[in-house]
Amino acid sequence: MAYEKRVLISQIDNGNFLDKTITIGGWIRSVRNSKKFSFIVINDGSSQESLQIVADATIESYDVVKSLLTGASVLITGKIVSSGGHGQKFEMHASQVKLIGEANEEYPLQKKKTSLEFLRENAHLRPRTNTFGAVFRVRSTLAFATHEFFQNRGLYYINTPIITASDCEGAGELFKVTTLDFEKLPKNDKNKVNFEQDYFGKEANLTVSGQLEAECFALSMGGVYTFGPTFRAENSNTQRHLSEFWMIEPELAFADLEDVADLASDYLKYLIESAMEKCPQELEFLQNTYKNDLIETLNHVKSSDFIKVSYTEAIDILEKSGKKFEFSPKWGVDLQTEHERYLTEEHYKLPVIVTDYPKDIKAFYMKLNDDGKTVRAMDILVPGVGEIIGGSQRECNLGKLKNRMEEMNINPQDIWWYLDLRRFGSVPHAGFGLGFERAVMYITGMSNIRDVIPFYRTPKNVDF
Ligand code: 4AD
Ligand code: MG
Repeated sequence: MAYEKRVLISQIDNGNFLDKTITIGGWIRSVRNSKKFSFIVINDGSSQESLQIVADATIESYDVVKSLLTGASVLITGKIVSSGGHGQKFEMHASQVKLIGEANEEYPLQKKKTSLEFLRENAHLRPRTNTFGAVFRVRSTLAFATHEFFQNRGLYYINTPIITASDCEGAGELFKVTTLDFEKLPKNDKNKVNFEQDYFGKEANLTVSGQLEAECFALSMGGVYTFGPTFRAENSNTQRHLSEFWMIEPELAFADLEDVADLASDYLKYLIESAMEKCPQELEFLQNTYKNDLIETLNHVKSSDFIKVSYTEAIDILEKSGKKFEFSPKWGVDLQTEHERYLTEEHYKLPVIVTDYPKDIKAFYMKLNDDGKTVRAMDILVPGVGEIIGGSQRECNLGKLKNRMEEMNINPQDIWWYLDLRRFGSVPHAGFGLGFERAVMYITGMSNIRDVIPFYRTPKNVDF
């Protein structure tokens, strides 16, 4: 037999249940008792709205009602009526109240205002708050919209490996995967750890990006995208970095940087539209609580062309800005966060696509421009977050790719299969990676990346 049938609070909103008797189930946000009746507010996670329930002292289960505490779970049956109270269209007049799981005074989420920091320490319970209900409903909507967007454009969803032997970005920020006994590490004749005796017979790590494998599928299925977890052991304790984050990486064959820059701006706009259409209450709540121009900004971005500027032009703008930066902008050096923020937040006040970076500050696989100094790369910067997307046209010429690898001390044998793509039926192709949490930050207006992933992993934190 199925569990007791319940209606979700999100389903009540349209008025279909007016004057009907239904059962709802959820967690108590607050209870207020008076002599003749009690007010119970419950939320079931299906909506930003909680439901107010009026329980008359004459109902049979009133003893249960009097014992209820914040945090307990209940199933309540009653009639839906129009509500006189402000802000709520409907309330329920209870006929039966069942306590399902009790809670006591130690329940951490009492009515008093709690800080986001406190809620990070209670990450197992924080989805029961208005803030995290909103964030994670938006996150779910954005994940679904991602599949919708790419599937509608004929791209195929592929799952690239999580354990790999390659370092796509070449930044050396790898988490090792090993079953070696650290107390008795096998050594080779050079007195180095002998990974031949390790589980995979060579050094393995958690992936930093699914791009290299996605390229194999783009050069066979035409257009593909990944959507999976990626891992970076970078020691960055910032509001924008995680050790484990989710990345979406589309990759297109017969395409250049222009094509994927357009794809990226269409995709970001689609994400914004989906959130605005499906989560209006969530965005309104987040705007009222955290970022008072959230919806206006999203609307503005949705209807604007993204700015395109080359790295060289961007450096020029920064140099001429008259602004005092902590690090002076300099051609050949990567843009600092303060530079990125100036460009997108102060200079343009819009998302900015910066292209054609110096080759020495970018990964080995990017297409070398004719100037011999820059590569066909792009970073997309957005206000409040900074870099949200990184992408490029790929070097599809075998000789040039080999040269770049040699310059960067990458052993061709380690990714012989990647080079094969350039030996057999190579085609111009391009792609990008969107940091999913950065997109969720951008669209929810949350300012710390720890607050947009269910359980965050950062240096020195792997709780929950
Ligand atoms: O710029 P990145 O390193 O690019 C790549 O990994 C390419 N292989 C993508 C591609 O062309 N297929 O990372 C892409 C995006 C960044 O723009 C950022 O949004 C996000 O991933 N990102 C992080 N998000 C959270 N925490 C971190 N430590 C991140 N590092 C990168
Ligand atoms: Mg990047």
